[in-house]
Amino acid sequence: MNDARKLKIVLIHGTSRPGNRTEMVTRFVRSMLEEHDEIELSYADPREMETPLDGNSDGQKDPRYSNMTAEADGFFIVTPEYNHGIPGSLKRLLDSELKNYIHKPVAFAGVSAGPWGGVRAIESLVSSVREMGMTACFTDVHFPKVQDLFDDDGNLLDVAFVERTERAVTELIWMARTMRYGRENIASRYHEV
Ligand SMILES: Cc1cc2nc3c(=O)[nH]c(=O)nc-3n(C[C@H](O)[C@H](O)[C@H](O)COP(=O)(O)O)c2cc1C
Repeated sequence: MNDARKLKIVLIHGTSRPGNRTEMVTRFVRSMLEEHDEIELSYADPREMETPLDGNSDGQKDPRYSNMTAEADGFFIVTPEYNHGIPGSLKRLLDSELKNYIHKPVAFAGVSAGPWGGVRAIESLVSSVREMGMTACFTDVHFPKVQDLFDDDGNLLDVAFVERTERAVTELIWMARTMRYGRENIASRYHEV
């Protein structure tokens, strides 16, 4: 497949908690995504979006998020684990759209203070994104004990995360390219070719 167009990837930061440490992981993931020239990156943050009340009708969604998800070829979600699930602000943002996700891949990074790196948050998120029509990548990156992973300037202390995150990014690129080809060339009841 020879397609020079950039892949539009939306990086979604998963919390609005003041002082959240997930911010450091999101910044790191962002730097890894930005290394790839074939990616055109957008950034979605629940703190910057206006999604009042619940639901996905016109008054309940932010046009900026609607536009970036409509154009997206794929998503990378960085989520902390709150009580073995995802933050309400992340779920609220995701819930504000639906058809814009169909037949598009999503990769995950999980963040926690405990030793499991947000694995339970990601597992709970997988059932939701599946219902939204996304396809979950299998290359999750886990950031356990996040309070020990970065120095005071936000620099990552363990280089092993570079290779783990790169694996997730390159898999997302492959999935995004493949699924864009599918959306544009293979008929489906969910999109026109
Ligand atoms: C409401 C709430 C629930 C949490 N539940 C968990 C949990 O289930 N497992 C865990 O390892 N850490 C839990 N934590 C700690 C977070 O993982 C920790 O704050 C970490 O820094 C990532 O979240 P942050 O981005 O908000 O800082 C919880 C934190 C909050 C605020």
